[in-house]
Amino acid sequence: MVSVSERPAVPRTVLNTPTGEVLIPSIGYGVWQVPDDEVDSAVGTALEAGYRHIDTARIYGNEAGVGRALKATSVPRDEIFVTTKVWNSDHGREGTLRAFDASMRRLGLEVLDLYLIHWPVPSLDRYLETWAALRELRDAGRVRAIGVCNFHEGHLRRVEQESGEWPAINQIELHPYLQQGTLREFQAQRGIVTESWSPLASGKRVLDDPVVRRIAQRHDATAAQVVIAWHLALGLVVIPKSVTPARIVENLAAVGLELTRADLVELGTLDQGFRTGPDPDEFAVL
Ligand SMILES: NC(=O)c1ccc[n+]([C@@H]2O[C@H](COP(=O)([O-])OP(=O)(O)OC[C@H]3O[C@@H](n4cnc5c(N)ncnc54)[C@H](OP(=O)(O)O)[C@@H]3O)[C@@H](O)[C@H]2O)c1
Repeated sequence: MVSVSERPAVPRTVLNTPTGEVLIPSIGYGVWQVPDDEVDSAVGTALEAGYRHIDTARIYGNEAGVGRALKATSVPRDEIFVTTKVWNSDHGREGTLRAFDASMRRLGLEVLDLYLIHWPVPSLDRYLETWAALRELRDAGRVRAIGVCNFHEGHLRRVEQESGEWPAINQIELHPYLQQGTLREFQAQRGIVTESWSPLASGKRVLDDPVVRRIAQRHDATAAQVVIAWHLALGLVVIPKSVTPARIVENLAAVGLELTRADLVELGTLDQGFRTGPDPDEFAVL
C-alpha cells in the first residue's frame, strides 16, 4: 500500500464563480450511509488523517453529526470545505431556501462552501427554480459556490440558457466502469468541474478488476488507491467513503501515487457503462 509518513498535501481544484475562484480540495470524504451517531467520529478520523473536504446531503440524515464533528475539531473552520445538497422534495424557490436554512442549522455553519442540487428530477421540472434559489443564496454570501449533481448535458444547457451561468461543478457517478467521457469533455470545455461520486463503484467489482489489481501490484499500492489516483490524474474531484479508519487513511494516501501514461491507457479501457445508481433522467424519489 502507498503509505505516507507525514500528512499528504492535498491538491486543490479551482471552482469558477462569478465573483472569482473558490478552491476545493480535490479529494474529499463522502458520508452517504454513515449513520448520524457514527458520522462525527468518522469525520473526526478523516480530519485527523488530513482530509479537508466533507461531502454530505440533507437526505443522508447526518448533517447534525457532521456539524458536531466540525464543532469538536481543532482544525479551523476556514480550512475545511463543506458540501451539502438540496433534496428532491425541496425543489423550487421557497422549498430550497427553507431547506438551506435547516441544513445550516444542523451543520452549525454561518457560510457553506458548496451547495448542490442533488438530482434534476426532470419529471418535476423545477430545477431551474431551484437553481435560481441557489444563485440567490450565493449572491447573498450564504454559500461560496453552487453546483449540481447528476445533471446530463441537456439539463446543464437549460440551466445556462435560463440563467446565463454554468454550474461551477457537476457531481456525477463516475468510476472506471462508468467513465462518463462525453459529459466530462462537455464540462471541461465550459469550465464546469467534474466531481466523481461512488468513485470506487461503492466497493463493488471495480476493486476486484484484474487490470486494477495488476496496476496496484506494480506500484505496491491497493486497488482503491489506484482508482482514486486515476480520478485525480483525470483532473476530477473525488469523494471516497469509508467508515474503516485504516481505509480512510489509505484512500487519502492515494494523492501520493503517480500512475504512468500506460496505466491510464489501460484503465481507460475498462469503461462498461455500469451504473451502481439510477439514471438521473428517471430518478424521481421525493
Ligand atoms: N450526488 C449523489 O447523488 C451521490 C450519490 C452517491 C454517493 N454520493 C457521494 O459520494 C460518496 C462516495 O460514494 P459511495 O459512498 O457510494 O461509494 P464509494 O466511495 O465508491 O465506495 C464506498 C464503499 O467502498 C468501501 N471502501 C472504501 N475504501 C475502501 C478501500 N480502501 N478498500 C476497500 N474498500 C473500500 C467502503 O467500505 P467501508 O465503509 O466499510 O470501509 C464502502 O463500502 C458518498 O459518500 C457521497 O458523499 C453522492
